[in-house]
Amino acid sequence: MTGGGALRVDLRSDTVTRPTPAMLDAMLGARVGDDCFGEDPTVRALEERTAELLGKERALFLPSGIMANQVALLAMGEPGTEVLVEARAHLLHYEESSVAAHGGMTLRAISTPDGRLTADTVAGALRPASPFHPRVSALAIENTHLDSGGRVMSAGVVADVAEVAHAAGLRVHLDGARLWNAAAALGVEASELTAPVDTVMTCLSKGLGAPVGSMMAGPADVVERGWRIRRRLGGQMRQAGFLAAAGLYALEHHRARLEEDHARARRLAEGVAYLPGIRLQAPETNVVMIDVSGTGMAPSELVARLREHGVGMVPFGPTRLRAVLHLDVDDAGVELAISVLSGVLRGDEAGDPERPAR
Ligand SMILES: Cc1ncc(COP(=O)(O)O)c(C=O)c1O
Repeated sequence: MTGGGALRVDLRSDTVTRPTPAMLDAMLGARVGDDCFGEDPTVRALEERTAELLGKERALFLPSGIMANQVALLAMGEPGTEVLVEARAHLLHYEESSVAAHGGMTLRAISTPDGRLTADTVAGALRPASPFHPRVSALAIENTHLDSGGRVMSAGVVADVAEVAHAAGLRVHLDGARLWNAAAALGVEASELTAPVDTVMTCLSKGLGAPVGSMMAGPADVVERGWRIRRRLGGQMRQAGFLAAAGLYALEHHRARLEEDHARARRLAEGVAYLPGIRLQAPETNVVMIDVSGTGMAPSELVARLREHGVGMVPFGPTRLRAVLHLDVDDAGVELAISVLSGVLRGDEAGDPERPAR
């Protein structure tokens, strides 16, 4: 792993942000207690505010999104059953098979052309009731969908998908790591996107800019079971109010600015779209996936060249680079990333005035 210290603009992920001075003040001033005894007032305030914003009975504060996804699915599912997910879902490819390892459930993939499940694709994945097939506990959807470049599912599609799943007796979980981005892009309240689902996970440590933490929200009985599962997974925290204060600050102060990240993502995409060998789709939120297969360079090679000029991106599979906008990237950072990628691809890297000597 490489650190981000030398980077002039760090587009590797929206998780690389540092707390702002105002967020740090909120953390330092937090009232705390032992959350295992239910005595941390700031954690309680964060859980209540999250439940309110997501339109759910209760919410739980967890260290990470992977744990929050697991807690929701383990609280609703049963060992020996399946969880349906879109074929390129984060749950399937990046979560250490944790739902299988800790919950005894297999993940079954539903293929879609663009990462967006529809009522028809979900209906097509449901088998007729039979004593010979495994039962299906739940469907997990992802909004925004990372692998497809942060694409958004509308409230109507989420409702249709959930209706099909519920009619077949499944519970529905939403991996909403970037749910706030989806809501901002659609111009709707997040609760519109969560109303049709049973449980939702959403991250405070991505676009919202908190240093740590994710939330799981849902019906009181599911969250109550989730409390024990979090403990079983070792995720219970003590004076977590210092971290919850950052989350509360982020919810109140950083949601409204997410559209700035989306505008910068569009600008980055426009700026690199016509470079030689590049292909990309217009971003819908803060993620820009750049297909570099036409450049003759592997993504890892390009990432190394960009890094020499202080621009951080990550290789994303065999053909793509990923750039993610967040609150520590300004307009100048975007312009720098465009000119550096342009210089590297056109072979005139000497044009970068701050290029370190080799
Ligand atoms: C779509 C999605 N779900 C879940 C997660 C997991 O979150 P965490 O890294 O906090 O465990 C991520 C992290 O990048 C993600 O992008």
